[in-house]
Amino acid sequence: GGSVWTSLHMMQELLACAFAACAFTVALWIRYGYGGLLDLLLNHNYRPDGKKIESLRPVSFPFGSLLDMMNNPEKTRDRMIEIARRNGGMVVVWEAFSPVVYAFDLKHINLMWNTDFTLNKTDRSLLPSLRTKLLLGNSLFTLDVARWRHLHKIILRAGLGSRHLRGVFPAVCDGGDRIWMKIDKAVQRALSESKKNHVEALGLELNPGIELHPFCREFAISTITSVIFGDAIDEKQGLRLGELVDFFVRKGVNNPLYAIPGATYIPFGESRKVMQTIREIQAIGDVLIQQRSEREAREEVKRDAGDDADGPSRRVGDGPASTSIFDNLKAEAEKGNLSYDEVLDNVYGLMAAGFDTTANAISLSVTMLSLHPVVQMKVRKEIQAALGKGDGSCKDLTYDVVMSSTDLPYLNAVIKETLRMLPPAVKLPARILKRRTEVNGFSLQRGSEISTMQYQTSAMKEHWGGNAKHFYPERFLGEGGVSVECVKGGRFSSFGLGIRSCIGKNLAIMCVKVFLVNLLTRFEISMASHHSRRNWYETTHEFWNMRCVSYM
Ligand code: HEM
Repeated sequence: GGSVWTSLHMMQELLACAFAACAFTVALWIRYGYGGLLDLLLNHNYRPDGKKIESLRPVSFPFGSLLDMMNNPEKTRDRMIEIARRNGGMVVVWEAFSPVVYAFDLKHINLMWNTDFTLNKTDRSLLPSLRTKLLLGNSLFTLDVARWRHLHKIILRAGLGSRHLRGVFPAVCDGGDRIWMKIDKAVQRALSESKKNHVEALGLELNPGIELHPFCREFAISTITSVIFGDAIDEKQGLRLGELVDFFVRKGVNNPLYAIPGATYIPFGESRKVMQTIREIQAIGDVLIQQRSEREAREEVKRDAGDDADGPSRRVGDGPASTSIFDNLKAEAEKGNLSYDEVLDNVYGLMAAGFDTTANAISLSVTMLSLHPVVQMKVRKEIQAALGKGDGSCKDLTYDVVMSSTDLPYLNAVIKETLRMLPPAVKLPARILKRRTEVNGFSLQRGSEISTMQYQTSAMKEHWGGNAKHFYPERFLGEGGVSVECVKGGRFSSFGLGIRSCIGKNLAIMCVKVFLVNLLTRFEISMASHHSRRNWYETTHEFWNMRCVSYM
């Protein structure tokens, strides 16, 4: 019985593959026609119209570029830059199921940002992925222009706008504190093993035995769920949510299979796993929403009884106690400004967009600071001076210090420089042209997808000068190198470009800063000695060493 079942199962998988292959070809055929299809498959050139643009078919069809990029990011990056230079600043790369034209020249990127590719002339290309639609169907990511405008305003008002961010600062700190205690505990443990007290421990090298990147990820999830729901998520749930969102983003968005209408409903293989993942994310979201509603009800009872024991946020001077983004969106739904589905889809959208990006930004900043001790020392001094009056510890951190443009300029520059060199989103989600558009003599037909690659352009001397490949935060301060102007004109695009750029960027920077202030006021950090720099995205998984610089 078992073997019959296994063969049936295998046959099912084979049939599904055959079905998928046929449907994939037909889908391409319908989209590009017979000639276009042959051109795409046999020719190394993608010919949107008129001039040819060289494509990266040998490494990229159908997913090679991504894998290659992960295995050897620096080599692939340089190769792609080379091809772009030979090609009038354009490269075509096969993404999951369609060719995307990538612009490398600043003038083209400027066009994307400022003039030709504005909101009314482009769309995002997440829509074709049905799996994405299941989780993010009515979210900011996928909506049509008119609805997007409306929703964008509401989400800014709900807490993410620069004028509204003050209200979420306490939630970021509270979410962070819970995770931070882990490091403190690990350091206490290491101290008690070495039989040293805090004073004797100053300057002592310790290894907390905590892996950097998973720790940063927990921090990011905890702070961002605190902002979204008003309560930090419990540890186990947080870790699970991190894994699930990661799996969804990797498998649920990029798989070309999901371009084929029927494939969504194939009930086995990876398709089934992605489906389960979506259900589990939604189940955790439901629990958080339930907890939030219960807490709200309890607080209402307390308020009615005139009991104000919990009081407002313990962080004084930070404006009114915050409500969560979820509460604010729900209130808008009650006023009829959006549907309850839109509330949920956007909450999941913020989680999908915010966790890993922010976690990467944090662990890559820590990595860069470990590799550049002089920069680290300079940042620590700046932080201590900004916190000034108190004992110079992170307890004194306020919203005004974190977000002021003058108090921590060098820390700002360090974060920007990290995001420039190692952008967590290595490329922007493509825009789909709604009309034929000319770029540098290339005529791109309606429906073409176009985008930019942050990881590649950040290494180009045309964008950043001769020191493009070096970590040089000063470039954002205008001291030599490229001036502060470099944040304008499409060079710094790690949060995307134009009106459709990242809505969470201020929140993300706030989280990174809260983390770094906590870290640098307590410890000097360096890479553990066995660290080897094989791959940027791997280094952050290595252990790190810490030296206490203040009393805990
Ligand atoms: C360092 C961390 C982050 C990075 C590097 C990052 C990067 C990006 C990028 C590159 C885009 C695409 C922009 C474009 O197409 O032009 C984007 C969009 C988006 N991000 Fe972020 N992001 C980060 C953190 C966050 C956080 C914390 C949130 C929310 C909690 C968030 C929410 C979003 C949303 C909702 C969009 C879609 C915006 C729209 O379509 O209007 N991101 N982000």
